[in-house]
Amino acid sequence: MKHLINIESLSNDEINQIYSRACEFEKGIRKSNHSGAHVANMFFENSTRTKMSFEMAENKLNINKYDFCADTSSLNKGEDLFDTLNNLSAIGIDTIVMRHTNDELINLLAQKNYFNELSFINAGSGKTAHPTQALLDFYTMKRHFLNLSGKIITIVGDIAHSRVAKSNIELLQRFDMIIRCLAPENLMGEKIDGVHYYTDLKEAFENVDIVMALRIQKERIQEQIDFDYYIKNYQITKENLPYAAFLMHPGPINKDIEIKSDVLLTQNARTILNQAKNGVYVRMAVLDMILASKGL
Ligand code: CP
Repeated sequence: MKHLINIESLSNDEINQIYSRACEFEKGIRKSNHSGAHVANMFFENSTRTKMSFEMAENKLNINKYDFCADTSSLNKGEDLFDTLNNLSAIGIDTIVMRHTNDELINLLAQKNYFNELSFINAGSGKTAHPTQALLDFYTMKRHFLNLSGKIITIVGDIAHSRVAKSNIELLQRFDMIIRCLAPENLMGEKIDGVHYYTDLKEAFENVDIVMALRIQKERIQEQIDFDYYIKNYQITKENLPYAAFLMHPGPINKDIEIKSDVLLTQNARTILNQAKNGVYVRMAVLDMILASKGL
């Protein structure tokens, strides 16, 4: 495993290995030391959870980490990203954790193999992929349910603009979960084979095991959004959330839009901070596997 670009590029065996390794890190029974590795974190789009949990994972693995700040870098003097990466590689960086608004850029950088020595880890690319989020969501669900086959998940919200939904659908279908997507037509996006689509909340929440709420990604939407309509028909409340449903959200949450604030205080919502915590173990596992494959 030289790069982690998307879920499609991972085998089920690699996904299971990431899961087991993350479990070992969580239980404290695996100790890895990558003090020879030099990882640059390059975030071209805002982040709290992903950036901080990668940094935490890097610290726990004794990795030398470098925070690349685009605003104070020579990108601002007109240098292009290609030259920037070549120079980082020449300086001695071996791995890049990157978040970017462009859908294809990280994939292109890794696939073209311009930079022989550099590995790329996708920390969120445009609307297309957020593989470490899907892996930590899978980890969180599997730690709770053990066997995910046949479990029903309803993903509700702005599916059209969500890289989290796309990566989760790809991963969870492989592990035989029943996937429902719930959204108004304008936020549904392209339909994927095997996924069940709903516009009615009551139908989509029937017998559900897991509800995964998504934020409406205003920054990616040009047209006017009717928030009143969304809240009336799709907001998760204490009344419409099934009693035993496991409530998940990748964050950040826009309180009182996709989820009513008081739901966040219920037992169902305790999962959400667990997702953030589990992100550290899963990112440790991903870094551990990639750096080990490089002999670092
Ligand atoms: N879930 C997630 O990617 O959160 P951040 O944008 O805060 O990293």
